[in-house]
Amino acid sequence: MHKVLARGSGSSTARSRPHTALALAAAGVAVFAATVVVTATASAGTTLGTSAAEQGRYFGAAVAANKLSDATYVGILNREFNMVTPENEMKWDATEPSQGQFTYTNADRIVSHAQTNGMRVRGHALAWHSQQPGWAQNMSGSALRQALVNHITQVATHYRGKIYAWDVVNEAFADGGSGGRRDSNLQRTGNDWIEAAFRTARAADPGAKLCYNDYNTDGQNAKSNAVYAMVQDFKARGVPIDCVGFQSHFNSASPVPGDYQANLQRFANLGVDVQITELDIEGSGTVQADSYGRVVRACLAVPRCTGITVWGIRDTDSWRASGTPLLFDGSGNKKPAYTAVLNALNGGSTPPPTTTAPTTTPPTSPPPSGSGCTATLTLSQWQGGFVTYVRVTAGATPLNGWTVGLTLPGGATITNTWNAQPSGTSGAVTFRNLSYNGQVGAGASTEFGFQGVGTGPSGSATCTAA
Ligand code: XIL
Repeated sequence: MHKVLARGSGSSTARSRPHTALALAAAGVAVFAATVVVTATASAGTTLGTSAAEQGRYFGAAVAANKLSDATYVGILNREFNMVTPENEMKWDATEPSQGQFTYTNADRIVSHAQTNGMRVRGHALAWHSQQPGWAQNMSGSALRQALVNHITQVATHYRGKIYAWDVVNEAFADGGSGGRRDSNLQRTGNDWIEAAFRTARAADPGAKLCYNDYNTDGQNAKSNAVYAMVQDFKARGVPIDCVGFQSHFNSASPVPGDYQANLQRFANLGVDVQITELDIEGSGTVQADSYGRVVRACLAVPRCTGITVWGIRDTDSWRASGTPLLFDGSGNKKPAYTAVLNALNGGSTPPPTTTAPTTTPPTSPPPSGSGCTATLTLSQWQGGFVTYVRVTAGATPLNGWTVGLTLPGGATITNTWNAQPSGTSGAVTFRNLSYNGQVGAGASTEFGFQGVGTGPSGSATCTAA
């Protein structure tokens, strides 16, 4: 799906979802305009935050308090993002520089900026082996454990009610094939330090989602397997954990793994949200842009991937500035990577200039009033291939499983399906929900999709409640 979508999004035949029929007609591609169903909600946003929101996600950035006086920086932040993570200001060394003395000035500035501008906050990070104050680095055993618990209690209480999700524990697993914990002063207080941290955080701020966050866990490997086993164990024993963060710091030596989406999905299948928490990808031009597009599409294809945060705004703001890993250049201009991200958020298409907007009102399909469900198709067609998005909307009764039926035109073959199980690849095909998206609340909806060669389906689809 990724390669073809990327190709489609760069061609003149790919446009915004609401205007598919018009765009295709303008590009001379045969299309059955009357039968392309367009949902009222499928408008293409023009900023990262609004486009992500249309997909039910957030788009965030790591923010440094000392840059909040930089007008270019703040201009981009306020325009594009709807989630912020303090880059350093909530870390242990910043919030408790002397034991028992808490300083929140810089972190508070970021939180207050976010609140004033309608952004949410990811808290980062309550417990980490790195960026500890000197006094904690020198502690061990039960004194350190007690200091950690107090630290978490104090900080999470100070921000109670203001944090969407906390990175409760950061980077606690070892790299390489050991599949074990990273050695640290915290680890040496006892293997249960992670669950103690999570239980403490829950008690202090019951409203925040509690995440475990790490790097080199982006694909399936010994390290991510070890984190997976911990999350599975926590869920089984009722240790409070709500989400897993995947830092996603990539470069040519550590590229986006081929199984990135599958890895996000397997964690989501444990019953936690997944979030991309510190995304940056070293490089430039279309290579960098393609990788960014892949990451975004992977998140969108996983229903419990709730959002993406990039680790800084301009390349010059990055902790790895020499690798130019972000979406804006040093002057604040949008890079090709930005466009790739926006296109991916908009479903593989570019918002058309307003001059090409259709003059007729596109057909809309209101949610059904009775029981059962409806399916609406949105087609992106290009020469030789297509992507179809299908939105399944429940009627007045919640769904506990659904099946969508449609007929592909002669010669069309499905090559890839996400978020549903197809019965075949050509002709009349039915799509059944997967284990995680069969339950849809009354009036709510879920989306699946498929990609194929040939001409995509232009007729309507049936939806049957299980
Ligand atoms: C980095 C910051 O970006 C730098 O400013 C700081 O000097 C070091 O920490 N993983 C994390 C982040 O969880 O907190 C790190 O942030 C980057 C790696």
